[in-house]
Amino acid sequence: MSRILVTGGTGYIGTHVLAALSEAGHHAIPLDNFSNSSPAAAERLREITPRIAPPVEIDMRDRLGLASLLAREKVDAVIHLAGLKAVGESVEQPLRYYDNNVRGTVTLLQALADANVTRFVFGSSATVYSPEGTTPSTEQSAVGPTSPYGRTKRLVEQILEDTAAADPRWRIAVLRYFNPAGAHSSGVIGEHPRGVPNNLMPYVCRVAAGQLSRLQIFGNDYPTPDGTGVRDYIHVCDLAEGHVAALGVLEGIPAGEVLTANLGTGRGVSVKELIETFERVNGIAIARETVSRRPGDVAVYCANPEFAQSRLGWKARRSLEDICRDAWRYAERSAREKWP
Ligand SMILES: NC(=O)c1ccc[n+]([C@@H]2O[C@H](COP(=O)([O-])OP(=O)(O)OC[C@H]3O[C@@H](n4cnc5c(N)ncnc54)[C@H](O)[C@@H]3O)[C@@H](O)[C@H]2O)c1
Repeated sequence: MSRILVTGGTGYIGTHVLAALSEAGHHAIPLDNFSNSSPAAAERLREITPRIAPPVEIDMRDRLGLASLLAREKVDAVIHLAGLKAVGESVEQPLRYYDNNVRGTVTLLQALADANVTRFVFGSSATVYSPEGTTPSTEQSAVGPTSPYGRTKRLVEQILEDTAAADPRWRIAVLRYFNPAGAHSSGVIGEHPRGVPNNLMPYVCRVAAGQLSRLQIFGNDYPTPDGTGVRDYIHVCDLAEGHVAALGVLEGIPAGEVLTANLGTGRGVSVKELIETFERVNGIAIARETVSRRPGDVAVYCANPEFAQSRLGWKARRSLEDICRDAWRYAERSAREKWP
C-alpha cells in the first residue's frame, strides 16, 4: 500500500481517483482549497471507503502550508489534479489561470522536491493538441493549445519535462484526458459544476432534472456524420483507474524522461448520439434546440489510446450507456438530496 496525495482531491475527477486508489489498496490523502468543490463529496465517499483520509484544506500556492503537510504526512507519490479548468473563463481571466495552474504547480513541485517526494502524475488535457493536428490524436500529434487554459496545461507539461531532465530523482507521468463523463456507480460522487455547466453531460442532467428548460446544441453543420461535434467520452471511473495504472509504472520510467499518455476510449461520439443514448437508457426526454457554433469549438476530438494500453496496461472498459446511467444516478440523487 502506498500513501498518495491527491491535489484537487475533492473535485470531480479527484473524488473518483480517491475511490480508485482506495479500491486498489492505496491510502489516499485529498488536498484542496475548495475553490470549486466542497469537502462534502469526499466525506460522503469516506462513508463507503473509509481508507480515504479527511480532506486537507491547503492552496497549492502556499509553499509553507505544503511543507508543513509533507513534514507531518508520509507521502509516496502525488496525483496532481488541482487547477482551474473553464476555457471561456481563462480567456477572460488569463492571469488568474496562469497564477493558479502554473505558479501553483511550480510551488507544489518546489515543496515536493524539498521533501524528496518525486513520484508525480499530472492531470493534463487533450486541449494541448492543435485542432489542425491529426485525429485521432496520438501522443506525437502536434501540440498547439488555443486557449489560456490549454496553454497552462502545456506549460506545466514543459515544466515537468524540464524538471525531469534536470533532476534524476523524479519519475513523472502526464495523462492527457479526453472527455471525462459519468459518475461512480454508488451515486455518492459525480460531476457537480457551479452555475450553468460548460460540459455536455452535466448540462443534459440539469435538463433531465428540470433545473434547465432546454439543452442548447452548439452547431449542427460540422463535417461529422450527423453534423454535431464529436468527442471521446470516457467514463470517469475508467479515467481514475488510469491514474492507478500510471502509478504502477512510474518506477520503470527512465530518469530524465516524462511518460505522456492519452486517456480516452478511441471512439468518437456525437452530441446527438450522446443525447439519444441518455434518453434511451434513462427513459427521459431531453428538450433541445440547435443554436450557432460556439467560438473555439472544433468538429472532432478523439484519442488514439493504444499507447496507454501497451505502456500502462490500461484500457477504458465502461460503455457510453454506463456513462449515461451513472451520470443520471448521481445527478438525480444530488438534486433530490440537495447536495452542495
Ligand atoms: N473535467 C474535465 O473535463 C477535464 C478534462 C481535461 C483535464 N481536466 C483536468 O483535470 C483536473 C481536475 O478536473 P475536474 O474536472 O475534477 O475539476 P474540478 O474543478 O472539479 O476539480 C479541481 C479541484 O482543484 C481545486 N483547486 C483549484 N485550484 C486550487 C489550488 N490553487 N489549490 C488547491 N486546490 C485547488 C478545486 O477546488 C477543485 O476541487 C484539472 O486540472 C483539469 O484541468 C479536466
